[in-house]
Amino acid sequence: MRLPSSFRRNLRLMRIAHILATHGMAALAVRLRLFYPYVWVVQLLRGDELPKDLGTQIRLALEKLGPTFIKFGQMLSTRVDLLPIEVALELKKLQDDVPPEPFAHVQRVIESSFKRPLSGVDGLFASFDEHPVAAASIAQVHFAELQDGRQVAVKVRRDHISRTIESDLAILRLLAALFDRYFPEYHRLKAPEVMQEFSTSIRGELNLRAEAAHASRFAENFTSIEGVRVPDVLWDYTHTEVLTTERIIGIPIDEKEALEAAGFDSLKLCERVTSLFFHTVFVDGYFHADMHPGNIFVDQQGEIVLIDFGIVGRLDMKTRRYLAGMLLAFLKEDYRSSAKVHLDAGFVPADTDLSAFEDALREIAVPIFNRPLGDISIAELLLSMFAVTERFKMETQPQLLLLQKTMVVIEGVARELADQANIWILAKPLISQWVVRHMGPAGKAEVLAEEAHLQLVSWMKFPQRIERTLARLEAEGGPLEAESSRLQLVCGVVLITGGSASLAWLAAQNMTGIGMLMATVSLGVGLLLSISSA
Ligand SMILES: Nc1ncnc2c1ncn2[C@@H]1O[C@H](COP(=O)(O)OP(=O)(O)O)[C@@H](O)[C@H]1O
Ligand SMILES: [Mg+2]
Repeated sequence: MRLPSSFRRNLRLMRIAHILATHGMAALAVRLRLFYPYVWVVQLLRGDELPKDLGTQIRLALEKLGPTFIKFGQMLSTRVDLLPIEVALELKKLQDDVPPEPFAHVQRVIESSFKRPLSGVDGLFASFDEHPVAAASIAQVHFAELQDGRQVAVKVRRDHISRTIESDLAILRLLAALFDRYFPEYHRLKAPEVMQEFSTSIRGELNLRAEAAHASRFAENFTSIEGVRVPDVLWDYTHTEVLTTERIIGIPIDEKEALEAAGFDSLKLCERVTSLFFHTVFVDGYFHADMHPGNIFVDQQGEIVLIDFGIVGRLDMKTRRYLAGMLLAFLKEDYRSSAKVHLDAGFVPADTDLSAFEDALREIAVPIFNRPLGDISIAELLLSMFAVTERFKMETQPQLLLLQKTMVVIEGVARELADQANIWILAKPLISQWVVRHMGPAGKAEVLAEEAHLQLVSWMKFPQRIERTLARLEAEGGPLEAESSRLQLVCGVVLITGGSASLAWLAAQNMTGIGMLMATVSLGVGLLLSISSA
């Protein structure tokens, strides 16, 4: 029997309060008003000192709360800007090691998805290996053979996992809202937004058809990069709960010895993975956000094959421009520009003391850049920068957190392959090229055109506003007066629209001179006419 959801939620909240209280975090539960009388008594009895091994206690608490909370802890573990380092290190130990789902459940999920038997004469597969290759908290993977002999990997979602995760997410969102309300001093951490982002990412992992769509988008984007591919998706064997892809025979990227024994050059592979990553970040603005070694293979032809597209990161043009500008300024050791980039992007308040901000950036960057090449870490730079920017009231940028987290992983992979390799140096030409293309004169014109377009869209709405004004005029003034005002207003608006459109167009083309002058004059006359008619 299933209990009503509000009842279940309250039970769950009680359990969370209890777990927090018994892991030395009664004070936190008290402030969040969770199951108040109980946690208050625990706090009275035990005092509100945080435990000495806070990290371990948080980890144990999250483990007790199950897969969604474990994933949340894994995400938190990358926030070294917020958490004390020993807590972050402890959270890194969180693993979603779970026993595999019984085969009968796997079979049920597949058969009910496709309304066909798993195997047999008119079955989906000629053979299906009952032992999973891998089992994680959301899904597990089995190898199988199609009726036509093709070898495939079938990722199958756990039975009922969606329901469990959805109700956990509802609780986590509630906790984030409580945190936001009762810890006003941490308002800028945007706990509700970060939780929203987390929900979206975990939901993305639940929908295997969405994962298939990500795979096909990568396949398309990768056509322009040499030596990189993704497995083909078999759409006829794919569903929300089942993803079937071509089986990859390859060596995981962290098996350096096996790779070298197979005749592959580690340094080349390292360069390829790095440039692939930066390409997806800057050129596509669409990157694989789970690039750990278990998801990167090298196939027999030496091509890099990425799998597992549950989590992707998206970066809009503005964020990419900010990122490129900031990284290049750091690279030139131009801390003034680096500080200014934040300001221009609107990430720190306009009244920020630029000089103090510049010094703070210098303070974190100089020690990092003074190290031997192999030890310079962009991920670490970004992270320390988040800590500094937070001091200068920069609001959390969730899309950058995902990028930073992925960068830690990529740097690890690169370092594992070639200890002298520095992804910073490898990335530089790529970023510079991108900057020339998107932030040079052509890029600036692109930005202007983009802004002009937005402005135009807003002006397009002007006629509706005129209609309203006219209706008012007609109601207030006599019909004749209204008629002449109407004419004047319409002329004014035509001039404004024409003038502004030409101005915007000329600006986008980076042009000046007589055209600009005429456009400005018509804009001015139009404005005068409209104002005087209203
Ligand atoms: N197309 C494939 N070819 C070969 N092995 C695969 C394939 N897809 C998945 N696997 C194996 O299954 C493991 C888990 O799959 P993955 O998609 O990464 O799931 P998860 O999201 O649980 O990490 C991979 O690390 C890999 O060993
Ligand atoms: Mg994986």
